[in-house]
Amino acid sequence: MSPVKFLLTEDEIPTHYYNIQADLRNHPPPPLHPGTRKPIGPQDLQPIFPMGLILQEVSRERFIKIPDEVRAMYQLFRPTPLFHARRFEQRLGTKAKIFYKYEGASPAGSHKLNTALAQASFNAQEGVKRLTTETGAGQWGSALSMACSFYGLECKVYMVSVSFQQKPYRRALMQTFGATVTASPSSQTESGRKILKTNPNHPGSLGIAISEAIEDAAQRDDTKYSLGSVLNHVLLHQTVIGLEAKKQMEKAGEYPDIVIGSCGGGSNYAGLAFPFLQDKLNGTPHRSIAVEPASCPTLTRGTYSYDFGDTGELTPLMPMYTLGHNFVPASIHAGGLRYHGAAPLVSQLVKDQIIEAQAYKQIEVFDAAKEFARTEGIVPAPESAHAIRSAIHEAQHGDKNGKPPVILFNLSGHGHFDMQAYDDYFGGRLTDHGLSQESIEASLKTLKALPVPA
Ligand SMILES: Cc1ncc(COP(=O)(O)O)c(C=O)c1O
Repeated sequence: MSPVKFLLTEDEIPTHYYNIQADLRNHPPPPLHPGTRKPIGPQDLQPIFPMGLILQEVSRERFIKIPDEVRAMYQLFRPTPLFHARRFEQRLGTKAKIFYKYEGASPAGSHKLNTALAQASFNAQEGVKRLTTETGAGQWGSALSMACSFYGLECKVYMVSVSFQQKPYRRALMQTFGATVTASPSSQTESGRKILKTNPNHPGSLGIAISEAIEDAAQRDDTKYSLGSVLNHVLLHQTVIGLEAKKQMEKAGEYPDIVIGSCGGGSNYAGLAFPFLQDKLNGTPHRSIAVEPASCPTLTRGTYSYDFGDTGELTPLMPMYTLGHNFVPASIHAGGLRYHGAAPLVSQLVKDQIIEAQAYKQIEVFDAAKEFARTEGIVPAPESAHAIRSAIHEAQHGDKNGKPPVILFNLSGHGHFDMQAYDDYFGGRLTDHGLSQESIEASLKTLKALPVPA
């Protein structure tokens, strides 16, 4: 029997995170203070983040120790399995070899728990009592709610309004873990009230929910803010995925020609891809692909610029590919990918053409998810299904060229709370949302007043 899954023991949970900043030739320009437009220092971030995480944010050390207690928490679900998708390959009729790392094995349902536990730990250690955050489809909110309950922290989640309505059971899951969940935009913050005034039925966006969560945290001494993607320290925490996957691919006797991850803010893609990119930056070539929705095409159609991470202009200005911080993506079911920007580290790698980006439309993504579920038995989260769609594309392309590749993608989460999306798909109610060049350009106009990265 040929093996289908490649497992590691709990002893093999990584002891250190991998920090790609140690290996980059070109570093992203520094984040700028939203008021003074000068580079920010650790003290500027202190009102909303604990110092332990701020130090990780700016570190250039190659390997950063995972605190023992966080590693002990990881034992609940790590190492996650890596599968050889043999049945899926057969269904596609491809000669490509397709492997996937399954982060949906985490109790919260996705990769997000890797950073949620680390962030909750550093906050608890520094005496923080309450965390606020945003969530799209609810994967990040569920993960942070669970982590907060493990560390005895209160948790307040601003959930993008359209997802709040589309995914009521994610909301109930967060409540089960003890969090308070509010639809965003809400009337509880100045940022939310401003938006509701112009449109009481606003569908919300991650950018708006971030503004609300930051505003809430900034007003209370016992509260800090927690971000589920984009920032260096979040990408860092996710590298446990790729570090494990490297060992597992070794067990499988393969090295990937192509590494693929879906990309919202960038931490999921980075988590799998960065440990492999360490090899690429040191001379072992492979292709690395970040996949996004065609209706929120940050990396494929956005501009590289300084921009705010949120709609309310409360965050530092970050150098990144962006569609403009006022961009409101269409209400696709992959709520976790509806973000206007991409992590500065991922953006820098795209800019330097070290990695690639692809975008796919909603219906073709669900077509891919269906084929995957019917052969591998796992119902993918709509976000994760973007990576599956890309894997199919690359396998078919390799077959045509006579060079079938070894493909590795991150199955970042399961879709058990996304069945309304599948019901809409099977009921023919899903649509592909066109996005005109004019509307992108209109949204990018907000960038004109902002500094240009050097
Ligand atoms: C299941 C799943 N996969 C991928 C992503 C994208 O993650 P990131 O924002 O870290 O790129 C999300 C985001 O919420 C998600 O929930």
